[in-house]
Amino acid sequence: MHIRPRRNRKSEVIRQLVMETTLSKNDLIFPLFMVQGDNIKQEISSMPGIFRFSPDQLLAEIQQCVDLGIKTFCLFPAFNEKQKDKYATISYDEDNFYLKTIRQIKKDIPGACIMTDVAMDPYSADGHDGLVENGEILNDETLEILGKMSLAQARAGADILGPSDMMDGRVGYIREMLDDEGFTKVSIMSYTAKYASAFYGPFRDALDSAPKSGDKKTYQMDPANVREALLEAELDEMEGADILMVKPALSYLDVISELSQASHLPIAAYNVSGEYAMIKAAHQNGWIDGEKAMLEVLLSIKRAGARVILSYFAKEYASLNP
Ligand code: PBG
Repeated sequence: MHIRPRRNRKSEVIRQLVMETTLSKNDLIFPLFMVQGDNIKQEISSMPGIFRFSPDQLLAEIQQCVDLGIKTFCLFPAFNEKQKDKYATISYDEDNFYLKTIRQIKKDIPGACIMTDVAMDPYSADGHDGLVENGEILNDETLEILGKMSLAQARAGADILGPSDMMDGRVGYIREMLDDEGFTKVSIMSYTAKYASAFYGPFRDALDSAPKSGDKKTYQMDPANVREALLEAELDEMEGADILMVKPALSYLDVISELSQASHLPIAAYNVSGEYAMIKAAHQNGWIDGEKAMLEVLLSIKRAGARVILSYFAKEYASLNP
């Protein structure tokens, strides 16, 4: 035998030398949940180690993460049921606690890069990402609301907008509105291939944002499809997206891989709430080593072709890799 692949695995140093994929804190975005009030840090029962923060606590958490080397945050607000309406009106009220907190963060922690979520569900009485009329999710009417929401977020100081609703044409619509108002430097990370997935369960608990009726299958993608993701990617590119996202990550590593080959834009992947919950639950039961599983999962997403990973593990990863 002249060829022995094990020679390249014989020591830690050699293994590091031939390592094809590396993970870094620079790759990670930390999603954070917000609630109104003061001095609140409420653990989400289906996501051990992940909390809902009131604005004061959120600022402290972000500062801690920045000190650990995590610099980009994706913020999701939980609004009260009585603040929600059919048109998600509160989403573009400049005085809502989400936008106020973003202004505060940009002022107090200039080193933090803030990504917002553009979709109606946390603000909608129907719990859908789009406007509901007679049980149907309307597309073009939703765009007008998303446009107002996007402008309000840009005015509050958001660095990156994340349209997560899967309406047709929203990236182009939002880009044009931003540019018309002079926000040419605000980035768009499009949820390009967002699947109708069972892995969003814990997130909907966290925000109390589950759809009141029906499901999201007329706008989120069918888990059976990958060619359709390439079409979505092509459209988002033409409409002016800066980064393309695949979501969830783990059951869609092939989609990440295909998109990273098809596009010259950076690819992001969202390691979603259910993927986090599974590892935490198995770890708590003593069934797997959660830390090792976390590293393996994050590495697999990077190896598949994601340049950026949104993950609830971001802070834990940074704490373990100072
Ligand atoms: C909704 C939105 C969802 C997530 C991010 N934005 C849930 C959904 O589409 O129902 C899920 C994130 C996660 O599960 O971690 N606009």
